[in-house]
Amino acid sequence: MSIYVENLSFAYGDKQILREINLNVKNGESIRIIGVSGCGKSTLLKLLAGLYKAQDGIIEVQGERNPEQIRRQVSVVMQNPMLFPASIKDNITCGHPMSNETIKRACDAAQLSDWIASLPDGIDTYVGERGGKVSGGQAQRIAIARAIAKDAPVVLLDEATSALDGDTSKAVIAALESLTKGKTVVSVSHRPDDLMEYNRIYRLEGGRLFNA
Ligand SMILES: Nc1ncnc2c1ncn2[C@@H]1O[C@H](COP(=O)(O)OP(=O)(O)OP(=O)(O)O)[C@@H](O)[C@H]1O
Ligand SMILES: [Mg+2]
Repeated sequence: MSIYVENLSFAYGDKQILREINLNVKNGESIRIIGVSGCGKSTLLKLLAGLYKAQDGIIEVQGERNPEQIRRQVSVVMQNPMLFPASIKDNITCGHPMSNETIKRACDAAQLSDWIASLPDGIDTYVGERGGKVSGGQAQRIAIARAIAKDAPVVLLDEATSALDGDTSKAVIAALESLTKGKTVVSVSHRPDDLMEYNRIYRLEGGRLFNA
């Protein structure tokens, strides 16, 4: 099992968000979780990413239960991708040693190479405070390139396909296809998705997970 969740409950203070969630995702399976704004989708994804610790129940990802170990097994593309005030390159490697070949492949797969080639400083271009110098679509593709370069077996996507339109959308979809190929995927959004294919779709409501 790639992801194994048993009776997971989670609260922020006394505000209960998730109630006794059970979820099994096999290696290479891809699932979608939908639910209204505020129902706890991002919270669940952060738990699966090892960013929060389960307060109750079990979260196992690639056989790991320790959040620190779980973080090594997952690549995450969050709702509002966080960029560091650093170069595009550093935002992709996150300071981990990586060959130029790996970085180049990630940029190609994330559809960033043409844009990077058009910049005077190329991949060493500074993205600005909180990524302020790049567009939303570019920031998202940098976050996807980061996830591709990490090459983790599990990919977690938060609203990755919900804000897409026109040409950017084609580039981001192609980037996401490269990222998710052959991986275990959990994708959450407030709406169903006709851009990618999933093995199963669930609905998160009242803190509980239902088959949709
Ligand atoms: N760090 C936090 N501390 C306290 N409450 C939080 C925190 N993060 C989220 N919440 C609350 O928990 C609930 C679930 O939030 P979450 O971000 O998981 O929802 P979501 O389903 O991802 O919503 P959206 O579709 O708008 O992204 C919301 O009511 C939110 O206000
Ligand atoms: Mg969210």
